[in-house]
Amino acid sequence: MNRICVLGSINVDMTVTVERFHAPGESMIAEKFETFTGGKGGNQAVACARLGADVMMIGCVGEDSNGRMYLDALEREGVDTAGVVRTPDAPTGVALIEVDKHGENRILVAPGANFALTCDMVSAKADALKRDVCLFQMENPLPAITHGMALAKQAGALVVLDPAPVPAAPVSDAVFALCDYVTPNETELHLLTGMPVDTVEQAAEAAAQLIRKGAKAVINKRGGQGALLVTAAGYHLFPGFKVNVVDTTAAGDSFNAGLSVGLAKGYATSDAVVLANAVGALSTTARGAQAAMPTFEQAAGLIAGTD
Ligand code: RIB
Repeated sequence: MNRICVLGSINVDMTVTVERFHAPGESMIAEKFETFTGGKGGNQAVACARLGADVMMIGCVGEDSNGRMYLDALEREGVDTAGVVRTPDAPTGVALIEVDKHGENRILVAPGANFALTCDMVSAKADALKRDVCLFQMENPLPAITHGMALAKQAGALVVLDPAPVPAAPVSDAVFALCDYVTPNETELHLLTGMPVDTVEQAAEAAAQLIRKGAKAVINKRGGQGALLVTAAGYHLFPGFKVNVVDTTAAGDSFNAGLSVGLAKGYATSDAVVLANAVGALSTTARGAQAAMPTFEQAAGLIAGTD
């Protein structure tokens, strides 16, 4: 139990803290510049490990100092990096991030080596996908992601897809049919379905479209409002936890990690969503994607109201 594989992106985040987001054509002085380990895949792998899971990661970094630094950081967190390929053909991915005074962010990703991940590379690491839960996002080429999802499904793992960022090309129904859980935020749910998602009822209708395409369940991340679980049987909103928000970068990644760890521990979906809400909330309480990712005990404390 509690064995997870994360197939996903590895980025070095170059983050500036700003009073407000700057306008097109405007030059502005930022308050601070910092470098963090990031990337949705790396963030999710670290968050799962902090929660006590046995984590393997599949991904691709460059043969550069950023790649070496990141692998060392993953290993310090206890993530098994045997599934991470180093390529001489592209630099390690980089993300340029602005965080404003409300903790909101804007992110621009230069994928580099993340886009060099191929189906053959994933096949070569297929043993890593024989886990309780396999977690995917969309910062690698879609064929490699889909191939990994199919291998995970064949191996009997639960498949969780965080459809972030939504690719420009349409995502085929075959991808959703491989998903036990799809976890879009509001923007992603709108982009995937073309439907309005402003209210819970609208979001439930949009999510039902993904269920008709083959997903078993959709969990719509709705920020501070919480998370909306939608299945063929109906929907339920699980309220979010109130915390002092400093930086929302990787809140979604942390949510997915909490969900995956809950599922890998054999929790009912509803309990896994509550854990996900707590992990996502706690991750926003410090600057940087991975700085405030909590331990299982910290998340349990927030849920119990004892932290
Ligand atoms: O979800 C947050 C992450 O998105 C950042 O760490 C950045 O690297 C991008 O991948």
